[in-house]
Amino acid sequence: MKEFKVIIMGFGAVGQGVAEAIALKKEMIQKDYGYNLKIVAAADSSTSAICIEGLDENTLVKTKKETGKLADYPEYGSNLSGLQVLDSVDYDCLIESTPTNIDDGEPGKSLTLKAFNQGKDVVTSNKGYLALNFKEIIDAAQENNVNFKYEATVGGSMPIINFVKDTLSSCKIYSVIGILNGTTNYILSRMTSEGSSYQNILRESQELGIAETDPTNDVEGIDAACKTVILANSLLNIPATYDDVEVEGISNITSQAIDLAKKDGYLIKLIAEVLPNNLKVSPRLVKKGSSYDVNGTLNMANVKTDLAGDVSVSGFGAGSLETASAIITDLISILKNKK
Ligand SMILES: NC(=O)c1ccc[n+]([C@@H]2O[C@H](COP(=O)([O-])OP(=O)(O)OC[C@H]3O[C@@H](n4cnc5c(N)ncnc54)[C@H](OP(=O)(O)O)[C@@H]3O)[C@@H](O)[C@H]2O)c1
Repeated sequence: MKEFKVIIMGFGAVGQGVAEAIALKKEMIQKDYGYNLKIVAAADSSTSAICIEGLDENTLVKTKKETGKLADYPEYGSNLSGLQVLDSVDYDCLIESTPTNIDDGEPGKSLTLKAFNQGKDVVTSNKGYLALNFKEIIDAAQENNVNFKYEATVGGSMPIINFVKDTLSSCKIYSVIGILNGTTNYILSRMTSEGSSYQNILRESQELGIAETDPTNDVEGIDAACKTVILANSLLNIPATYDDVEVEGISNITSQAIDLAKKDGYLIKLIAEVLPNNLKVSPRLVKKGSSYDVNGTLNMANVKTDLAGDVSVSGFGAGSLETASAIITDLISILKNKK
């Protein structure tokens, strides 16, 4: 049986979800695709675990949860940093799930470019460096003749990038308009159903772990703008970067505005628009009962095409196993290519 050796870089919610998903799916992958999928290394911000024979997925997750450090993995723990790990073990694919950084794209950008230079495939969930340097990254993957997949960067488990590229490949794509941030959709949904203020619902969302302690990236539309850039480049061939998106968040939305909209049969949603001459994230009125009427942490996207007309997709925009599902699907598509 052929082997497919992966490194998981970044071992937080997504990295751990990937390890759990590999434990659940490796038998299926062996049976259906003929590859023995092995995690040969995993790294967090300062430590790692490395074993060319393969690390046990459940021990990786247990070690990280119990001690906070992959260095404590029995026998195979190490203090090597991310970039050093890429030089220390033979591998086929880097799974890159380090934090999104829209200042300089690091550490994801350097890790990804290094893996390309080593001739390795990369699957990422990190939208930061793609929002800043999409073309540079895609060009580098092509120059090195490696696979680069990034479905998990937009919409978690909601299929959008591969779906449009593969399943709608006969169609010209005119626009993609959708709800691309689960935290803001959750806050607006609860403001609508409960009539409470933005500040109250934000605080409760933080207590529930749905909004982060510093919610700026979500509530000010920054996260949705990064996804807008990725969809613009990958689906409409628009060579945009983050600065090309007009961004307005939801922090000024009042419960009175939501009530007024409700009376007229409308909802307020944070809408991302990808059109050839307009990249925008802003609070918009949408008709109640329309395809944009999805609640809680759900994401959705409406794709306008020439042949198929309007096609809508929806799914969970975040979550450990949910996001891992997109990463494993990307891995499987690389394995199918190799066959
Ligand atoms: N969470 C989701 O549902 C979701 C959905 C879609 C996309 N994403 C994206 O996926 C990525 C990961 O998200 P997450 O929620 O898993 O984040 P997270 O829980 O904050 O985990 C990030 C991980 O990266 C590690 N890290 C930081 N700097 C590193 C470096 N230089 N080298 C190696 N590892 C490093 C951290 O180490 P420590 O453990 O030592 O701090 C941590 O293990 C982000 O880019 C995010 O935007 C997340």
